[in-house]
Amino acid sequence: MNTLSKKVVATTFDVSRVRQDFPALDQDVNGYSLVYFDNGATSQKPLSVIQAISAFYTGYNANIHRGVHHLSQLATNAYEEARQAVADWINAPKATEVIFTSGTTAGINLVAQSWGRHYLKPGDEIVLSAMEHHGNIVPWQMVCQEKGAKLRIIPMNDQGELILEEAEKIIGSRTRMLALSHVSNALGTINPVAEIIAMARKQGALVLLDGAQAVPHFRIDVQQLDCDFYAFSAHKMLGSTGTGVLWAKEQLLNELPPWQGGGDMIESVSFEKTTYNVAPFRFEAGTPHIAGALALHAAINYYRALNQHELEAHEASLLQYASQCLLSIPGLRIIGNARHKVPVISFVLEGLHPYDVGFILDKYGIAVRTGHHCAQPVMDFFKIPGTIRASLAFYNTTAEIERLKEVLLIAKRMLS
Ligand code: ALA
Repeated sequence: MNTLSKKVVATTFDVSRVRQDFPALDQDVNGYSLVYFDNGATSQKPLSVIQAISAFYTGYNANIHRGVHHLSQLATNAYEEARQAVADWINAPKATEVIFTSGTTAGINLVAQSWGRHYLKPGDEIVLSAMEHHGNIVPWQMVCQEKGAKLRIIPMNDQGELILEEAEKIIGSRTRMLALSHVSNALGTINPVAEIIAMARKQGALVLLDGAQAVPHFRIDVQQLDCDFYAFSAHKMLGSTGTGVLWAKEQLLNELPPWQGGGDMIESVSFEKTTYNVAPFRFEAGTPHIAGALALHAAINYYRALNQHELEAHEASLLQYASQCLLSIPGLRIIGNARHKVPVISFVLEGLHPYDVGFILDKYGIAVRTGHHCAQPVMDFFKIPGTIRASLAFYNTTAEIERLKEVLLIAKRMLS
């Protein structure tokens, strides 16, 4: 994992070679070379992923699990191979524990609606953290409202780190679910999930991790994490939008009722009674994003071909370089200085609105995200309307960071 404090060693990661795999990186925006620093929102795609999507639609496009014909067999096999590839990638004991969803948000809603509506009782508590994305707040609020359950929030400190002593007090005998971001999208903090999961286990609570911002940066081992649910999106890790994964322990999946009804999730249907298919199919109603699953398989293969150790060392050096570089700009304050971070730098410039800065960066070809990043409670905590967020990926370079600094200085002159 990348950490700010870790001594950064010279890396052998061949970033110029890697960049050749990403056609979208090689373009001009507003007359300047694109600097793509909005990877937290979505990553760019390597050619192999784009080709996997194209190969499906040009070669064997068909619906899955439904046809006896040749193309349907090919598509079904490829889809189920993708499921197995995901299981292997996150070290899931079984491929049948992998549910394809439309993204992290859908995975969390699935758990909130299926598990929450079935099991929650008045007075039960769901524990979240102060740095959750709206996607891991609102689904729980909705189900709590319906079932008379309550949200409890683990607070954070000014560095953007969760306060473990407080977590210990909040996670108690009423806690039914701990739903926690593995990595904060707004701050880049890598949360100490092992410690907090251990607290939940002591109380017999279930654990869901929102892994949307973790999967692009480091390897996930769901067995080692000892969580019950792990949700993530494909599009932040080189895959396509509209595809995600919810991993869940087999025993839980077998106990949970379906969430959405429709085709493929049933065993038999009559007007009097419907019986349901086994997991994971019970949770995949309707035609899924088949091409998206195949793209995720190609994305996993792409990651596998990289040296993960070198990738992480490269990202750690980018984070360190970017932090130092940006902090040399007068009036710039980094929001989120956790000891353990992925290469995400959220910052504000004294006296300037993030949107104005983002607008000027775009004029110079630099893509960042500005605003509250779907994490309004984080902004409220820091008493700011929003931040400028540069979220980096392994294909970014130190030269791009220097360019960001240069244009930020221009923006400051223009706006002051
Ligand atoms: N959740 C995504 C982000 O952080 C969209 O930008």
